Amino acid sequence: MSKQTLVINPVTRIEGHGKITIQLDEQGKVSDARFHVTQIRGFEKLCEGRPFYEMPSLMARICGICPVSHLIASAKACDAILATRIPTTAIKLRTVLNLAQIVQSHALSFFHLSSPDFLLGMDSDPARRNIFGLAEAHPQMARDGVRLRQIGQQIIEKMAGKRIHPAWVVAGGVNEPLSVATRDQILTVLPEALQIATKALDWFKTILDQFREEIRTFANFPTYFLGLVSPTGELEHYNGFFRVVDSRGNIVADKLDVLNYADIIGEACEPDSYLKSPYYKPRGYPEGIYRVGPLARLNIADRCGTPRADQEWAEFRELDRGAVLSSFYYHYARLIEIIYGIERMEQLLQSPDILSKHVRAFAGTNNPEGIGVTEAPRGTLIHHYKVDDNGLITWANLIIATGHNNLALNRGVLQVAKHFVNGEKLSEGMLNRVEAVVRAFDPCLSCSTHALGHMALQIQLLAPGGEVLDELKR
Ligand code: MG
Ligand code: NI
Repeated sequence: MSKQTLVINPVTRIEGHGKITIQLDEQGKVSDARFHVTQIRGFEKLCEGRPFYEMPSLMARICGICPVSHLIASAKACDAILATRIPTTAIKLRTVLNLAQIVQSHALSFFHLSSPDFLLGMDSDPARRNIFGLAEAHPQMARDGVRLRQIGQQIIEKMAGKRIHPAWVVAGGVNEPLSVATRDQILTVLPEALQIATKALDWFKTILDQFREEIRTFANFPTYFLGLVSPTGELEHYNGFFRVVDSRGNIVADKLDVLNYADIIGEACEPDSYLKSPYYKPRGYPEGIYRVGPLARLNIADRCGTPRADQEWAEFRELDRGAVLSSFYYHYARLIEIIYGIERMEQLLQSPDILSKHVRAFAGTNNPEGIGVTEAPRGTLIHHYKVDDNGLITWANLIIATGHNNLALNRGVLQVAKHFVNGEKLSEGMLNRVEAVVRAFDPCLSCSTHALGHMALQIQLLAPGGEVLDELKR
């Protein structure tokens, strides 16, 4: 038998458009597997010549899934160009907005996209293994997911005016203080959100035993983990310093100023993908493979910093001796982060200065360069701009969460393919597990690709000459 390639294109139930290829060797065994991002939006080029203060609302348009993350990272980069101090209240308000985004995005990932796998089974009929099948078989779980996501979205809408592409966050702070009514409305819905999240996590812990094989094979290998922590080592999504831990959970880099990101993050280019492959620079490429996002954040932090999340975090860290290595546990980490996000929003909204009228600092172009880093739902998001004397953007670099995880995601697809793919047989179970490992990372492809429309799933088994040997369509 000659070399063959399996192509899965696009992956269902992730945001955007990607493609998976599985390379078989002469014996019909998996020799390589790749997750490709095949299109790019060119946002870095697009912003050249724009006034920097237009960047936050422009950058929010990169993604319909995580606009708030780009908005905030961009605003922070612009803050740095102003070179002025941002009012404390504005920082708190931005943090609440960022956490609301994390809650709604994690709810989408867990309930809408992944819980059908957990509830209906990895081998169940794909026509039913989605949010609609879920609504039929487990209506309460579907309702909870919809409600939790709605609460996150409504918080964003109440604070920032528009649910998609809000322009409330600006260079120097936010453009309007929080009203008493809005604060009280948000505080009223948070207990319901916490109840839904707690219930989901309690349930998820009871089903882990059914997924031992997936836990063992879903991108379960040593890597570094990277993200922001607060100055006291707590979970942090808005400010803080870079910390890097190794697979044994040892801190290898700490309290690194985000301005020096280029000292620890290198970007390698792969010929078959527009998405760069970042790596931990001190270890080189590809040994410096690292992961970001919920799993990484819980691995690098010393604790969360809110009561319920701290209890859950302690239990979570017992899953492994060092860092928690299986990417199947991204789901688990996401649920803990939802709980943290709700608790932390409540703390911030209860703080006495949250209604302060001083929410924006005004200044001109005082610094030719600005870097803004934040923790988006999927991981560390970096916006880096350079401007001319008139404040027009001359250069921009973005590093998105899905990019950081590129190497680990590829290696995870390979691990799953080796375990579940058997020769030329295209079974639903194999197919869905290859997709499921991608979904565990929750890649936000709308950040890195054009296509947002839904396409049917297509898997092709290709001979070296390109002729289709076998094909499955959904
Ligand atoms: Mg870039
Ligand atoms: Ni996105």
